[in-house]
Amino acid sequence: MGCQLLLIVAVLTIITVVKGNVSVVEACNSNDLKALKSFKAGIHIDTSGRLANWVGQSCCRWEGISCHSTTGRVTEIHLPGFISTEDSVFQSRMKGSLSPSISLLTSLEVLDLGGLVDLTGIIPPSIGCLQNLKKLYLYGNKLSGPVPESISKLLKLEELHLHENRLSGTLSSSLGNLKNINQLLMHTNQFTGVIPDSFTNLTNVVRLDLHCNYLNGYIPEKIGELQLLEQLDFSNNLLRGKLPPSLCNLTVISVLYLDNNKLEGAIPFPSSPGQMPSLGFLRLQDNNLTGKIPPTFGYLASLRRVSLANNKLEGAIPTSLGNLQDLTELYLNGNQLSGQIPKSISQLSQLIFLSISRNQIEGPLPSGMFSLQNLQTLDLSFNLLNLSSIPMWMAELPSLSRVYLAGCGIKGKIPEFFRTTPSPLQELDLSVNHLSGSIPAWIGSLTQLYSLNLSRNSLVSSIPETITNLQDLGLLDLHSNKLTGSISQVFKIGQRFPDGSLTYIDLSDNGFSSGIELTGGGGQTGIRFLNLSRNVLEGQIPVSVGRLRSLRSLDLSYNKLGYVLPGSLANESSLETLKLQNNRFTGRIPSEYLKLKKLKELDLSHNLLVGEIPAGKPLSDFPESSFSGNRGLCGKPLTACRA
Ligand SMILES: *[C@@H]1O[C@H](CO)[C@@H](O)[C@H](O)[C@H]1NC(C)=O
Ligand SMILES: *[C@@H]1O[C@H](CO)[C@@H](O)[C@H](O)[C@H]1NC(C)=O
Ligand SMILES: *[C@@H]1O[C@H](CO)[C@@H](O)[C@H](O)[C@H]1NC(C)=O
Ligand SMILES: *[C@@H]1O[C@H](CO)[C@@H](O)[C@H](O)[C@H]1NC(C)=O
Ligand SMILES: *[C@@H]1O[C@H](CO)[C@@H](O)[C@H](O)[C@H]1NC(C)=O
Ligand SMILES: *[C@@H]1O[C@H](CO)[C@@H](O)[C@H](O)[C@H]1NC(C)=O
Ligand SMILES: *[C@@H]1O[C@H](CO)[C@@H](O)[C@H](O)[C@H]1NC(C)=O
Ligand SMILES: *[C@@H]1O[C@H](CO)[C@@H](O)[C@H](O)[C@H]1NC(C)=O
Repeated sequence: MGCQLLLIVAVLTIITVVKGNVSVVEACNSNDLKALKSFKAGIHIDTSGRLANWVGQSCCRWEGISCHSTTGRVTEIHLPGFISTEDSVFQSRMKGSLSPSISLLTSLEVLDLGGLVDLTGIIPPSIGCLQNLKKLYLYGNKLSGPVPESISKLLKLEELHLHENRLSGTLSSSLGNLKNINQLLMHTNQFTGVIPDSFTNLTNVVRLDLHCNYLNGYIPEKIGELQLLEQLDFSNNLLRGKLPPSLCNLTVISVLYLDNNKLEGAIPFPSSPGQMPSLGFLRLQDNNLTGKIPPTFGYLASLRRVSLANNKLEGAIPTSLGNLQDLTELYLNGNQLSGQIPKSISQLSQLIFLSISRNQIEGPLPSGMFSLQNLQTLDLSFNLLNLSSIPMWMAELPSLSRVYLAGCGIKGKIPEFFRTTPSPLQELDLSVNHLSGSIPAWIGSLTQLYSLNLSRNSLVSSIPETITNLQDLGLLDLHSNKLTGSISQVFKIGQRFPDGSLTYIDLSDNGFSSGIELTGGGGQTGIRFLNLSRNVLEGQIPVSVGRLRSLRSLDLSYNKLGYVLPGSLANESSLETLKLQNNRFTGRIPSEYLKLKKLKELDLSHNLLVGEIPAGKPLSDFPESSFSGNRGLCGKPLTACRA
């Protein structure tokens, strides 16, 4: 009997659906309708226009709504911020908050309101009534307040994406009840407190991402019990204590990011071959890890990118590293590693990026390094390498274009073989060595050079005119040499290539003796940092300095510059640092300088300035020492001017 009745109901349902035009007949479940109308009422702005079409009673036909084929209940709400059509992707926004009445949607399985940018307010605790919910996407909004405790009652939940909001409070240990969860993404919020031990009960979790919060305390000891975990990201928190040895039991882990915490102690994995066989991406940098890189490290045969940088690791780089045949990036910089670079490094044929800078590695470099055919970036700066000269093979590496050899004890001239490297040089840092001789004219043929750092050597020439060919130059640091002559070539680069990338110029602490010429139209406007301090520059600051709109830091101190200070300098509204001390500037401080609202550092001391210091911020906020040694200056912060 009951079965027959059901059959009739089913047939009737089919008939109404087949009829097609049922906008009046096919009113959806009244609770669902009420919930969706409340939801819509909570949203004031919907740039996609989707909600505007939510009219009438047939909510199952509304855009973004899916209903169950037999019960007619709403099962899915899909209103993501990113809307991709055939030919475009477009970001829509919704402004408003989540109505607590969504709890009436008791058949809901998917709620996707991700990436709508402007949803605010709290996650309503009534969400815990949605007992059938499997996927909850609220990421990419401005939701605040805690994660309601009631979420841990959603036992069918498989994907919880709450990342990139402003959620706060602690993570409830009851979240450990979510036995079916496989993606738990709560990164980039403001969560505090500890990671509950109960998280080790999330035995189905595949992705667990809590990065960029303020979590402290320890990594749960039994984290290794999460046997399905493939991606674990706890980076950028305040986690303390040791890396739990159980990590090595994560048999399918592929991404492990624990960087930027306060973790200490030794790296406990792998303890034997075959552990963590899929680990490809490992970040442990910026912690306080100690001890040696385990000799077993080479067992992690799937590693592709590894950073152990900026810890306190010591001892030798293990020979087993040579087993990591898939390794493309290796960062070991900023530790206390010693000994020589192991010969086995030559086996890393896929290596693209190698940084060992700031350790205590000794020379000589293994000559087998010439077989690193894919190496693009090599940074060996600040070790105990004492190279004396740059090995020839380095200039023959087919892919090398970024070379950092600061503080490597290199003597003699800048080797000409850099002129003809197989890959055009893009970055060259030979600072803090014992280079002598001139800056060669051929430097102008390195037309893809972006960054040139020859600071703190004993170079004696002028800057070759050919430097004006370096159209891609972004950073030029020649400070602390014995360079002489004119600096105008440097500014001509910006003039020749007005859309170029020159942002950073440090020519300080040399013997340059020209004036400052910023001649010509356009150009130079991208310069953010300019340091010409401690030279013997003469003449005035050209009025055209006002064209350097992006300037953040200007240091012309300790020169022989004079005349009045140009008011046009106040055009540099982003200026944060202005150092003009120990020159021969005369006249008054231009009142325009009151417009330098971002100024944090000012030194006009030891000049020949006169008159009242223009009254007001930011000038009055600086200490006396910013103005001292100018016999004619008065007014705040110096003594008041005599009437
Ligand atoms: C439903 O029928 C009315 C009148 O017959 C018509 O104007 C309307 O466009 C139809 N709507 C749909 C969705 O077919
Ligand atoms: C994990 O779950 C079990 C039973 O479901 C419970 O007894 C245990 O206390 C939980 N562990 C933690 C750390 O919460
Ligand atoms: C790894 O798992 C095995 C088997 O479950 C267990 O006996 C061992 O104690 C675990 N190791 C660690 C370090 O937790
Ligand atoms: C690292 O450890 C040292 C001593 O154990 C401590 O003084 C220091 O603050 C720690 N640094 C960080 C970033 O935790
Ligand atoms: C550096 O190497 C040179 C020659 O190779 C040697 O004469 C010099 O003593 C070494 N300096 C240091 C500090 O080891
Ligand atoms: C150039 O090298 C010096 C010394 O190594 C360093 O302090 C400086 O920051 C570098 N310049 C740039 C622009 O990176
Ligand atoms: C400019 O260079 C000088 C000498 O190299 C240095 O003392 C000063 O700190 C630099 N100024 C800025 C703003 O970095
Ligand atoms: C300073 O800015 C004003 C207004 O933006 C502009 O007219 C003037 O040409 C600028 N001065 C210089 C020297 O670029």
